[in-house]
Amino acid sequence: MSLLVKGGTVVGPTGTRVADVLVEGEKIVAVLDPSFTPSVTVDEVLDAAGKYVIPGGIDAHTHMELPFGGTAASDTFDTGTRAAAYGGTTTIIDFAVQRTGEVVQDGLAAWHAKAEGECHIDYAFHMILGGVDADALKAMDQLVADEGITSFKLFMAYPGVFYSDDGQILRAMQTARENGAMIMMHAENGIAIDVLVQQAIAKGQTDPIYHGITRPAALEAEATNRAIALAEVAQDCPLYIVHLSASQALAKVAEARDLGRNVFAETCPQYLYLTLEDQLGAPGFEGAKWVCSTPLRSKHEPHQRDLWKGLRNNDLAIVSTDHCPFCMKDQKELGLGDFSKIPNGIGGVEHRVDLVFQGVVDGKLSLERWVETIATTPARMFGLYPRKGIVQPGSDADLVVYDPNGTTRIGVATHHMNMDHSAYEGFEIQGRVGTVISRGEVIVADGNYHGRKGRGKFLKRGLSSYLM
Ligand code: URP
Ligand code: ZN
Ligand code: ZN
Ligand code: ZN
Repeated sequence: MSLLVKGGTVVGPTGTRVADVLVEGEKIVAVLDPSFTPSVTVDEVLDAAGKYVIPGGIDAHTHMELPFGGTAASDTFDTGTRAAAYGGTTTIIDFAVQRTGEVVQDGLAAWHAKAEGECHIDYAFHMILGGVDADALKAMDQLVADEGITSFKLFMAYPGVFYSDDGQILRAMQTARENGAMIMMHAENGIAIDVLVQQAIAKGQTDPIYHGITRPAALEAEATNRAIALAEVAQDCPLYIVHLSASQALAKVAEARDLGRNVFAETCPQYLYLTLEDQLGAPGFEGAKWVCSTPLRSKHEPHQRDLWKGLRNNDLAIVSTDHCPFCMKDQKELGLGDFSKIPNGIGGVEHRVDLVFQGVVDGKLSLERWVETIATTPARMFGLYPRKGIVQPGSDADLVVYDPNGTTRIGVATHHMNMDHSAYEGFEIQGRVGTVISRGEVIVADGNYHGRKGRGKFLKRGLSSYLM
């Protein structure tokens, strides 16, 4: 099958131009000046005039079916990757999990078993290490060498669940420095947070907003700074701070980057648009919808302004969703009367491409930075480039035809994620995902679904090609 995506404005990290994209089978074979195209004969022509043609989105941070807080994230690999496709994301990198005491390879095998035959789009894994010991360190080498897993997430939060102490973190960083992997860090001081949580509960402060109040920005900044210091001691081990939410943490990342360090960070749409007061502080138990860690930050502080600035100047390299949905019914409700028992996570895998595009509409981001932060940099950062993340000959034909004149209304009635609410209910985006192509196959066209579960392939990743 050959396909010509005709007359669109192709957007890449280095600029835009009107071009025709020729696809044969699963690959892009040419990006042509339209005046050269008439001689080409193809099976199908897709008119993209007046639209943007961008590389398919890569969401580098999702948690399908993650067991957490006594329940499991409500999207399966089937429902979650289908929703992602609707939203213009054609690759996810999900987090396989080693629970404390478990063999790393067993955790990985369990994740493959969940995902295999279920995904609508291509997928890869990072590995969460819940217990760094000698076996886990050896397993890191094996995963990098054989399994295409080149990034490992550690937690400075969640004592007793995923927490690693500084010694464990340092050892994992030293191992990563040797084998070339990236260390991803959940940077919050979980030991101090647990004290604040217990004190709040003891005072009867049980509403969802106290989830945010007991996780202050200072403890995100402290942990971010400590992770950066430990990575320095580990001979500049590559470090990637996940779900960065606070100005103070961003300042630590910026300081390290100004020194030329291999320190990177992502933020998520929830931190760019939602706040402690307006969402987490919603009346009654409503705020539970927005319980996630790191938490939403105060609108009375300049976090959102600073995060957008960070995206412009590349102190924030990537926007991922940290998609970790829980329904209110039977899931978030586990924390009725005690915010610390609300499962942590927000679902948004379907909305990332749109929510970041709204930043372009609002004059906060260039078109090129939009594409870079949602597709090109995730591919480079996590060893998928140039197979993914760019519209150029030889790359997989993962394409989104995006209509800047369309509108997208976000809400539970129309989204495709397996959630009984939307974190972005009522948001209206000045843009719309039109056609979504995954490895040459049209899987979404004008809101209609043509994909199928099981067509998504597992991607073995290489080492990061983003390091300094
Ligand atoms: O609240 C969150 N972020 N849930 C998902 C797990 C994690 O820490 O990323
Ligand atoms: Zn985390
Ligand atoms: Zn996460
Ligand atoms: Zn069709």
